[in-house]
Amino acid sequence: MENFVAYNPTSLHFGKDVLNGLPQILNRFGKKVLLVYGTGSIQRNGLYNHIINLLKSMDAEVFEYSGIRSNPVVEDVDAAAAVGRENKVDVVLAVGGGSVIDSAKIISIAIPSETPAWNYFARRAMPRTAVPLVAVLTLAATGTEMNPFAVLSNHAAETKGSFSSPLMYPKHSFLDPQYTASVPKNYTAYGIADLIAHSLEAFFGKGEEATLSDRLVYSIILEAMEYGPELLNDLENYKLRAKIMYAATMALNGLTMHGRASGEWGVHSIGHILSLLYDVPHGASLTIVYPAWMKLMKNRLNDRIKLLGNNLFGSSTAEETIEQMELFFKYIGCPVRLSNLGGIKPDADEIYRLMVQSKAATYVHKLNEDDYREIIKLMM
Ligand code: NZQ
Ligand code: ZN
Repeated sequence: MENFVAYNPTSLHFGKDVLNGLPQILNRFGKKVLLVYGTGSIQRNGLYNHIINLLKSMDAEVFEYSGIRSNPVVEDVDAAAAVGRENKVDVVLAVGGGSVIDSAKIISIAIPSETPAWNYFARRAMPRTAVPLVAVLTLAATGTEMNPFAVLSNHAAETKGSFSSPLMYPKHSFLDPQYTASVPKNYTAYGIADLIAHSLEAFFGKGEEATLSDRLVYSIILEAMEYGPELLNDLENYKLRAKIMYAATMALNGLTMHGRASGEWGVHSIGHILSLLYDVPHGASLTIVYPAWMKLMKNRLNDRIKLLGNNLFGSSTAEETIEQMELFFKYIGCPVRLSNLGGIKPDADEIYRLMVQSKAATYVHKLNEDDYREIIKLMM
């Protein structure tokens, strides 16, 4: 095992009706609330009215920034930070999925610093302080509710990049699985895929063996593989929503990283390029890249892939593991090739150019430019 520090300051409020405790928590930070949300799902499922009533009950002064889109963009973050700064808000309240909460994390560090948000991603600025962030999660997928990461797109800079700071852990995150019942089938599947991918990025990371962390990875993936398909046939089932929501949080809150030097994250870096170019939902980008990446790495990581498959599927070869993983992604309705995505014309040269430009997948198991060509072929 590698040496490690376990640190996670987010208080997680999980379960039915936990939102009733929201006013009491917000009150600790102040009455001026910047409410950040997306493009309408919380109005449609009734959560918006519920939140507004809770905010009224504590006499909050509410400033809103809405319209955060999936695959969020830096321009929204700068505009929302300006609203927070002008109104000297005490707390940022993010209500939504990964896109909203990631945006709110950067908003919370940008408000006090007056720095354009992209400066953090370009490593031109470091945050010194943050407005406290409270999150209400509405989609089980990214784990952002209990981690310090945020991912934003900057189309002018041709990048979808990530930034992290210990200041960006939400102070509190509220997870009521009832409010994920309205997530459509496709995004529910992408969320299941994303949490599996996070577990795999940990599993294929760097460092000495970390057997307990490996077993946590198998458990999280097995939970997703057993209950994910059931949930997809019964989208309003509270018990199943709760299981998947909890699994998604555990997949990227540090738990599976104990005893490892780092995660792999190559597949994510390539997935981000697909999202940037074609606005592919994050989880769907990963189900295209993962099978291709594992095929490319089959000989280089043969024992590791075999071990994974043995624990997940009882399979005995790396080939079988890869086949089973791809079958699962297909079974839950996710794309496994770029050609499965309707309405786009993937351009291999353009994907290659952005892979070279962003040095994709060069963090742990480094891919070279021939590998890029090969993996693009495998994804087509
Ligand atoms: O626009 P809204 O109204 O929010 O609608 C969203 C959006 O259309 C909708 N939705 C959310 N909750 C819903 C709902 N629809 C019905 N009922 C609900 N309860 O679902 C769509 C997708 O939402 P989004 O927030 O984009 O999805 P997700 O949670 O998968 O977040 C994806 C973003 O997170 C980043 C991704 O790269 C991507 O930008 N990630 C963040 C990570 C992190 N911070 O740790 C790690 C991940 O690997 C990932 O990179
Ligand atoms: Zn992810």
